[in-house]
Amino acid sequence: MDSCKVLVTHELIESGLDPLEGRCELVRAQGMSSAEVRARIEGFWGLVPLLTVKLDEALLDAAKGLKIIANVAVGYDNIDIAAATARGIWVTNTPGVLTEATADFTWALMLGLVRRIVEGQRMMLAGAYHGWEHTMLLGADFAGKVLGVVGLGQIGRAVARRAAGFGMQVLFYDPAEPAAMVDLGLLKAQQVPLDELLGAADIVSLHTPLTPQTRHLIDARRLALMRPSAYLVNTSRGPVVDERALVEHLLQRRIAGAALDVYEEEPALAPGLAGLDNVLLQPHLGSATRETRLLMAHTAANNVLAVLEGRRPPNAVNDPLA
Ligand code: GLV
Repeated sequence: MDSCKVLVTHELIESGLDPLEGRCELVRAQGMSSAEVRARIEGFWGLVPLLTVKLDEALLDAAKGLKIIANVAVGYDNIDIAAATARGIWVTNTPGVLTEATADFTWALMLGLVRRIVEGQRMMLAGAYHGWEHTMLLGADFAGKVLGVVGLGQIGRAVARRAAGFGMQVLFYDPAEPAAMVDLGLLKAQQVPLDELLGAADIVSLHTPLTPQTRHLIDARRLALMRPSAYLVNTSRGPVVDERALVEHLLQRRIAGAALDVYEEEPALAPGLAGLDNVLLQPHLGSATRETRLLMAHTAANNVLAVLEGRRPPNAVNDPLA
């Protein structure tokens, strides 16, 4: 068995790495930049990073002896997978355990945006509520409307399933899903081409991983296909949307509003985004529940343990043995 010295780049939820206690030497940092990880990584057998650590070729070159990167996230666009595979390093993620929390949060954003929850709170805190008014802070109904889900993976499905409770119809677009109609229990979701979905949906919700194919999938041309009354919600990855084009569309009221949990240059915002009154902006909280974060950390730990014990890690996203 290898000797297991693992660098944990950020503070994780208490007891998150318990499965590794007594098995590995854990070197816990409170929050490292990619440059700091690169300077420190040599000699470590395992790495447990967050999605904020960019693991590129140069960093992996410095990672002599590294056997596993157990990313504490379902997305792994922060890692150069080909470079890791070429260096014999396993890369794992945390799928499944965050599906329901992220779907819940996506609905929180939809409801908050469309029913203007933040504006209402702002009014209350400012002492600007002077009594019930018939035309104050009007939003839109959900029942009878169309939800367009872009990417029908685990999270996309969980978001779509919840639409049944709101009496919505679901359209989806997912080039990896061959079916034209997907049965989600209480409702069936119908597949349509992306441009058609954008023109038909009252709310568009993005659930794709970030890949070269999905970078700026929602660009100025596609934003222009959306209805002026439609809303865009992004809990996937910022660069899936051309954020500057989105700001322009929101400013000109060519779409009704957007709720974002992720940003193109996270944590920075595109110029003008923060000044808009038709956005709901959150600091990448999709999976942020205590239960889910504990399961994410445990998942990462179990992937490390598998490699330590000579097993294939259960959540491998590459295969360095092939
Ligand atoms: C969060 O964005 C994740 O990928 O887990």
